[in-house]
Amino acid sequence: MLSAADNDLITRIGPGTPAGTLMRRYWQPAALVDELKVNRPVKPVRLLGEDLVIFKDDKGRYGLIERACPHRGADLAFGRLEDGGLRCSFHGWLFGVDGQCLETPAEPDNSPLCVNIRQKSYPVVEKSGILFAYLGPGEPPALANFDCFIAPDAYTFAFKGLIECNWLQSLEVGIDPVHTSFLHRFFQDEDPAAGYGKMFRDRSADSEMPMTRIMREHTRPRIEVEQTAFGMSVATLRQVSERNMHVRVTNLLFPNAFCIPMSNEMTITQWHVPVDDTQNYWYAIFTSFGAPVDKDEMRRQRLETYELPNYTPRKNKRNEYGFDPHQQQDFTYTGMGADINVHAQWATASMGAIQDRTKEHLGSSDKAINIYRRILRTAIAQARGGERPLMTLDAGAAAAMTGPPAIDGIGPAESWQAYWQTADARRRQASSWAAGH
Ligand code: FES
Repeated sequence: MLSAADNDLITRIGPGTPAGTLMRRYWQPAALVDELKVNRPVKPVRLLGEDLVIFKDDKGRYGLIERACPHRGADLAFGRLEDGGLRCSFHGWLFGVDGQCLETPAEPDNSPLCVNIRQKSYPVVEKSGILFAYLGPGEPPALANFDCFIAPDAYTFAFKGLIECNWLQSLEVGIDPVHTSFLHRFFQDEDPAAGYGKMFRDRSADSEMPMTRIMREHTRPRIEVEQTAFGMSVATLRQVSERNMHVRVTNLLFPNAFCIPMSNEMTITQWHVPVDDTQNYWYAIFTSFGAPVDKDEMRRQRLETYELPNYTPRKNKRNEYGFDPHQQQDFTYTGMGADINVHAQWATASMGAIQDRTKEHLGSSDKAINIYRRILRTAIAQARGGERPLMTLDAGAAAAMTGPPAIDGIGPAESWQAYWQTADARRRQASSWAAGH
């Protein structure tokens, strides 16, 4: 349970807020590369409560600039892409990817007006199908050598989806290891061989047990949380027999991402990126340690749940998330279909736009959430005080930060730590790209 002031402190991210100041110290996903693979690559973006426009100029450079034209405020998202920049459709002012005004064509020939006009702009980098932006002061931090960033393009797939609530309650689902036994419970197990691209449908590594069965049958796991240089590593332990332990290792990548196992060959690295205080996008990089990713199939599956152009959820509070009470009796615990993104959408959006944490009652199974909030509050204080918070890495530290291991498998109960480390090393060794990382 938090005070109302503490809840505001850790959830609100607009310009000038304490958590907003912290979140601006990191690269944040702003758009998918796919969204700009169109004839006219210009798209409005609302990010951390700021209205921006992202574009790719006619030389292939990405720009992210404030959306309202600095002349008289018209919407640059309707601008013309030409002459090395984005041109406002109202009076033709032209802006480069760095926000510099390059032309004011209605002004006299020798007018110096545009020289002193610079639209607010933010740097953009492309990584594994996502365009990351840096909205903070000074030099951006370096991105860690995480698997999702170093895997070749053929082994990654990026996608996103809108969630209609504050970013923190969505992130807290990802670091809550027991909800999978309930929220994502399937009453029957699908054939793992038919589960390509779907979450939790594979067998746990080194076993014949479907992940869905383990989670359904073992609802009181032991949770071990370790604070790490990147945030937290969470080991969730389910004793599945006298001798065997199910070990699921997930990670919090500070401040607003996590890395979890999806199947034996794939992990998901997922950010919860604030659109503003009451909406967030999940951005995920699916990373395969086995075969190249079938991107068309992965995209097809996810477009059944999300609608273009804004990746909005087809099932949402306006249609009761597709809730079917009959299905709730014999198909899934929620009665909201098989896509776990819908389950998570319901769980988080139904808490309210910003969860009122003055009314919550956390238990021992929420220990990872408690520890994360402590780390978050420390980092907020550091950012406010001008210190360097966790994960604002320099190039050397970023190069040395690899992994993280994200494993779901069954090994000997008495040596479960050694088991998952060996399982991770084995998978890397067998991978065409991950050996040595
Ligand atoms: S409002 Fe944009 S050029 Fe005039």
